[in-house]
Amino acid sequence: MTRTLHEVPPPTGPSQTLDPQAWDEIRAQGHRMLDDMIDYVADIRSCPVWRPIPDEVRARFRAGLPRQASDLADVYQEFADFIAPYATGNVHPGFMGWVHGGGTAVGMLAEMLAAGLNANLGGRDHIPIEVERQIVEWTRAMFGFPREASGIFVTGTSMANLMAVLVARTAVLGPTVRQQGVGGEGALLTAYASTAAHGCVKKAMDLAGLGSDALRSMRVDSSHRVDVAAIRAQIARDREIGLKPFLVVGSAGTVDIGAIDDLEALSKLCREEKLWFHVDGAYGALGVLSPALAPRLKGMENADSIALDFHKWGQVPYDAGFLIVRDGEQHRAAFAAQAAYLQRETRGLAAGSPWPCDLGPDLSRGFKALKTWFTLKTFGTDKLGAMIERSCALARYLEARVLEEPRLELLAPAQLNIVCFRYRAADADRINGEIVIDIQESGISAPSTTTLDGRLAIRAAIVNHRTDVGEIDALVKAVLDFGARRSCGDGGRSPSPVT
Ligand SMILES: Cc1ncc(COP(=O)(O)O)c(C=O)c1O
Repeated sequence: MTRTLHEVPPPTGPSQTLDPQAWDEIRAQGHRMLDDMIDYVADIRSCPVWRPIPDEVRARFRAGLPRQASDLADVYQEFADFIAPYATGNVHPGFMGWVHGGGTAVGMLAEMLAAGLNANLGGRDHIPIEVERQIVEWTRAMFGFPREASGIFVTGTSMANLMAVLVARTAVLGPTVRQQGVGGEGALLTAYASTAAHGCVKKAMDLAGLGSDALRSMRVDSSHRVDVAAIRAQIARDREIGLKPFLVVGSAGTVDIGAIDDLEALSKLCREEKLWFHVDGAYGALGVLSPALAPRLKGMENADSIALDFHKWGQVPYDAGFLIVRDGEQHRAAFAAQAAYLQRETRGLAAGSPWPCDLGPDLSRGFKALKTWFTLKTFGTDKLGAMIERSCALARYLEARVLEEPRLELLAPAQLNIVCFRYRAADADRINGEIVIDIQESGISAPSTTTLDGRLAIRAAIVNHRTDVGEIDALVKAVLDFGARRSCGDGGRSPSPVT
């Protein structure tokens, strides 16, 4: 006779859990994995920056659901053979594509500790949340924000910008917007950012229900700084036709060429026009840690909110985006929501309100604060500021190399840590696009491309703290070598690929 489910006693004992049967075995395996990853970072220069993924490697990751168990050692071997060698490459000092931080061994170790604690930072009363609050406090101090400011870790600046738009939207329309939607008044809201602002600002307007058309893309000067007078005039025109300006987004380091808007003038404009002033400081905001760069960010301290990434110039391993809001009450008003199962108490584990889940859309949240806390404490912000300054000095070195080389052309002044240039050639857009792919596939370096004034540029964003003069020289040499081959039409086959 078969027994019904409730008659079957639950299986018990250690073998019923997911814990190891032999802790010493996992300890030994763990030490091997840790040693290997430390070697990986220490020896990264001996690897190609990036390598193309063979079809058979990609095919391994189209396997069926693994219903049966495998040995950890075997699974780890797969990681070592087929995952680690085919990563993005941003740990490597030759990586200059897009705006990626390099991470550190310290951050890597902190991630392991965070995973061990398996803390959920949505809420409740535990020290991991105090660690996050400590970072909020340090960030507040960094930017000269008032005591009532609030902050929260998020995935990245795309999310932080979206949340800033939501806070600004709720501030202007009032909290009822959260029940009633943006309605007719919301349809009138308009925001302003430069044509050089990151695309995620437009997306944020879309996702916030305001529509991307409600973002005015304002012209920039030859250094890609927004024309503040043009914004002022546009605001007046928009008001005249019954629209409701509510938000200006300034850039502290544009994604294309590293331009910093006149944040002081923008903050004055917002004060006079009573608009929310948000700064997209994805990587540039941490420039405040450098005494040489901080004056160029003047005005950021007046922002209503700042989005930034500790995973870029802060070198914290991915991901560690952050949003700080001047008025914590307005921040909470945009996201806090009641639920019986999230009842707050004054003592016990449910104490410590407000919780981070009151400051953003996420309830379950990992412990991004720990790797940031370890990074800031272990290196100190002076050292991080010096690294940031050094990457700007390397950009100036690259700019000088481009200017002294007649076969190369500088496409924009290097204002921060990004250099946009190209190989002079007939059909230069196509040739330079090919050069960049050739270089990436060679493993020598990893620049990316962008388009400036309709011309394709090789873009080197120097963010990784490991990048040095040798990597800059290698990039220049690779551009010249591949450029010569592409120009004479031999298909760009490799000048000595890295193996
Ligand atoms: C200026 C700027 N804003 C926003 C972003 C998007 O940040 P994330 O990739 O962390 O979402 C970037 C990314 O490079 C950026 O440079």
